[in-house]
Amino acid sequence: MSNRPELPPEIARRRTFAIISHPDAGKTTLTEKFLLFGGAIQLAGQVRAKGEARRTRSDFMQMEKDRGISVSASAMSFDYRTFRFNLVDTPGHSDFSEDTYRTLTAVDAAVMVIDGAKGVESQTRKLFEVCRLRDLPILTFCNKMDRESREVFDIIDEIQENLAIDVTPASWPIGMGSDFIGCYDLLRDRLELMDRADRNRVGQSIEIDGLDDPKLADHIPAHLLEKLREEVEMARGLLPPLDSQAVADGTMTPIWFGSAINSFGVKELMEGIGAYGPEPQPTRAEPRQIAPEEPQVAGFVFKVQANMDPKHRDRVAFVRLASGHFERGMKLTHVRTKKPMTISAPVLFLASDRELAEEAWAGDIIGIPNHGQLRIGDTLTEGEALRVTGIPSFAPELLQTARAGDPMKAKHLEKALFQFAEEGAAKVFKPAFGSGYIVGVVGALQFEVLASRIELEYGLPVRFEGSQFTSARWVAGPKDKVERFVQANKAHIAHDHDGDVVYLTRLQWDIDRIERDHPDLTLSATKEMM
Ligand code: G4P
Repeated sequence: MSNRPELPPEIARRRTFAIISHPDAGKTTLTEKFLLFGGAIQLAGQVRAKGEARRTRSDFMQMEKDRGISVSASAMSFDYRTFRFNLVDTPGHSDFSEDTYRTLTAVDAAVMVIDGAKGVESQTRKLFEVCRLRDLPILTFCNKMDRESREVFDIIDEIQENLAIDVTPASWPIGMGSDFIGCYDLLRDRLELMDRADRNRVGQSIEIDGLDDPKLADHIPAHLLEKLREEVEMARGLLPPLDSQAVADGTMTPIWFGSAINSFGVKELMEGIGAYGPEPQPTRAEPRQIAPEEPQVAGFVFKVQANMDPKHRDRVAFVRLASGHFERGMKLTHVRTKKPMTISAPVLFLASDRELAEEAWAGDIIGIPNHGQLRIGDTLTEGEALRVTGIPSFAPELLQTARAGDPMKAKHLEKALFQFAEEGAAKVFKPAFGSGYIVGVVGALQFEVLASRIELEYGLPVRFEGSQFTSARWVAGPKDKVERFVQANKAHIAHDHDGDVVYLTRLQWDIDRIERDHPDLTLSATKEMM
């Protein structure tokens, strides 16, 4: 990264990132404080919905309506000091979805939030592994230090051991639980004190001349000061110092300690994102990668959301700009169909509202309303035939058969299902034999969400029933061999919404056997979106 050319200032100030965490660690609270300090909202409390309510898609949309922040939950932009932050949301429910994987293809860094009492939890670990596949830089925020939490060394050890990444403290907490008074900022030699009286205010910040500065004793009780000095000395001896190249490479994570609900540690984390959360990075594409500083605009669709406004059957494609300076009204080429598209009503997701995007730069996320032309994985350029790669589509882990409540409406159901398939919300397979559609998802909750959306958005009652199959694999290979395989295995064959061949089974043994007997064919659990 260090030998990359200098970026134009408008691009260099952009930081596009996502938050990864286990439910309840404090992602929503932290997001809200980001927006508060970014001047995007006036009062904390606007982003929140209660507990489970915010974890399902339909409630989630309701929540968006309630709090008046339209689709901003998918991407939010705000300024902080000289930076423009683009925060891309990862779905909050604990059902794991491939949406999350794809979201992480659109960011340059991730903030990992962990609960100081719970440490690294299952969902965090899964999401971390995805970040690792892409060597994303990760900044860690250890939240809820105002509660009883684990010993700091324990937490750091757990991250190092569990996630196999070096951890370096950016701040060090002083006291814990009801004794927690703040942190020592190890990067800037400051004492940051928490204001327990006003949760939306940032506490005092006191410049300190190292840990031997007598001023410390004016603010920290003697027993905590002694502990702080001991621990920091130990940490400096045992833990690696901050190495910004290692952070950029994703092999080291700096950790900040704080309490999002008390607005504590949040500004330091934001400074950290500015300093280490890198500027827009090159995007992998065929036949060549795209560099952010290229003057020509290129971008890719990483998410499609249909029916955001049920009155207009519109869809919004979320596009991450990979390069250039985009201006409203630009004509771009839709590379998959080679057709020109005039982007006349792009949307920029400012946290307070949806606004027309007059311009945007590499690193930004814009929304493009369309009638279904834009699909996940599509690339837009100023003419060059580039195709962004690495946006995966996963084999679903749960399969059910969908039947229209009203048999006369089977065709309508097909349309609705195919639309959700294009949106990436489910996989839809049409079996070569028999009726009905087999719908595949990654988490069980998605069936409920789908059924309620089909009913709500299309007025179609739908039933999901158990399917005889449990696994789906995309079949690839020489055309004649695939065709012969399809003919010989009709009862197991289906086609996805793109018409690609899928093999359905309930036995892993079947899959192994085919791979053994048909060395020319590959049965794949993922299909790259294109
Ligand atoms: P999530 O989006 O990661 O699921 O977490 P969220 O921010 O919703 O926070 C989960 C719970 O943890 C919330 O409490 C929230 O108030 C609390 N929380 C967040 N940050 C802190 C912190 O720094 N300290 C403490 N003590 N608690 C924190 P809840 O009871 O589930 O919701 P609510 O009743 O407060 O709305």
